[in-house]
Amino acid sequence: MTTGVLFVCLGNICRSPTAHGIFEAMVAERGLQSQFVIDSAGTGDWHVGRPPDSRAAEAARQRGYELAHLRARQVGPEDFRRFDYLLAMDRSNLSDLQRMAPPGHNAELALFLSYGRCGGELEVPDPYYGGAAGFAHVLDLVEDAAAGLLDHILAARRP
Ligand code: 4NP
Repeated sequence: MTTGVLFVCLGNICRSPTAHGIFEAMVAERGLQSQFVIDSAGTGDWHVGRPPDSRAAEAARQRGYELAHLRARQVGPEDFRRFDYLLAMDRSNLSDLQRMAPPGHNAELALFLSYGRCGGELEVPDPYYGGAAGFAHVLDLVEDAAAGLLDHILAARRP
């Protein structure tokens, strides 16, 4: 069984590539790569084709995650068929997804942090115009929610 997970933010250069790289690493650590299709995309098109923001990549690298291979792309209508979960970093991303969703799709559209286990925040704050602490905070939130998401998907698959 394959589960498709698409992480979505505004630019696809800070938050969603961070979630993409971390979730990919967690899946690989458990040897489950063949059971997942993992990707990320932005609701906007300003950064299409670009690698992740160097501040996001460096913050991730300091925790052992490599994001350099990722390239930004924009969400498209086919994503609602290709992926089981489209997970938004904030409420604005989620409402954009809900507006774009083609009729009859079966994907789950949700806030990524609804899978977090620490509780509290439901949105990953946009770190783009802030300092290094913002990128570290993104990593804290994403590591927690990625672990919760993986547990949820594996539990949901059990008969
Ligand atoms: P992201 O961050 O949505 O986490 O990738 C942003 C990146 C770029 C911009 C905004 C947010 N921007 O306005 O260019």
